[in-house]
Amino acid sequence: MTDMTIDGILRLAIWCDGEIVDPAHAVVSVWDHGLLYGDGVFEGIRIRDGRLYRPHHHLARLRGSARAIALEIPFDDAALLAGIAATARANGLREAHVRVVVTRGVGLPGIDPRRCARATTLIMAYPFPPLLGSAPVTLITSSVARKSPRSVPSRVKSLSYLDSVLAKVQANAAGAGDALMLDGNGLVAEATGANVFAVHGTVLRTPPTTSSLAGITRGTILELAAGAGLEPRVEPLEPGDLYTADEAFLTGTGAGIVAVAAIDGRPLPTAPGRYTTALDAAYRATWADPAYTVAIDDLDGAA
Ligand SMILES: Cc1ncc(COP(=O)(O)O)c(C=O)c1O
Repeated sequence: MTDMTIDGILRLAIWCDGEIVDPAHAVVSVWDHGLLYGDGVFEGIRIRDGRLYRPHHHLARLRGSARAIALEIPFDDAALLAGIAATARANGLREAHVRVVVTRGVGLPGIDPRRCARATTLIMAYPFPPLLGSAPVTLITSSVARKSPRSVPSRVKSLSYLDSVLAKVQANAAGAGDALMLDGNGLVAEATGANVFAVHGTVLRTPPTTSSLAGITRGTILELAAGAGLEPRVEPLEPGDLYTADEAFLTGTGAGIVAVAAIDGRPLPTAPGRYTTALDAAYRATWADPAYTVAIDDLDGAA
């Protein structure tokens, strides 16, 4: 299967708590606190040409997310990696987005996580074209503030994406490609499912992860910046820093590197600009690099 339709997705085999199951049995209980309270964490990882991208970075972030919400993942990294390989293989996928989901598990209704004896762990692998398309995107600044680090720690990639969903509703209503989200102080946080970068001259800026996810793609771009002739800086950005940028782009596992065409009706001078193009090429060159990727055939894919 190479396309992504809902009928196609519903035919995929899923890894559920250690076993590959056919779609009819890939079900989560209605009493799972992941559904009832958004109580859980997840990761999104790419497989490209049969190679899993920065798996140890993604699993480390998953474990950090889980620790931050006091959730124990009942599988070690080797089991999760084998599960990812088995899921891709069961569906004949060498290009896929992989979702590893760990919910609080099944428990009596009531917020207390102690009601759930064991986490539910799921792995899905499915075809997924770039989240925001490949053309430069227009952004609006959303009035929905990004989750505060005083509520949900920004390092937690949790099952609760309602702030992003609400910002996306605004972007849709405005006819924009995506929304730029600010933190509670009006500083730039990130887009609904991607980090944001601005280029001024030869300086590349992205906000700290106080109110945004520590994106794996973001980290890779910061590593690659010097090679593209840019000085990377992690520092607070105001919306005005984006309005006045020479170039701006978004980064994410789902989105890839996407140039920003305009923000709140203010066009950027170039989209994609020369540095965005250079960084995109450098990023793509890492996709086949053994320093960044592991072949799924080298992982123990026995279900
Ligand atoms: C809210 C949010 N910010 C940023 C990102 C980018 O992170 P990564 O590069 O690890 O995919 C994502 C996930 O893709 C996300 O959901």
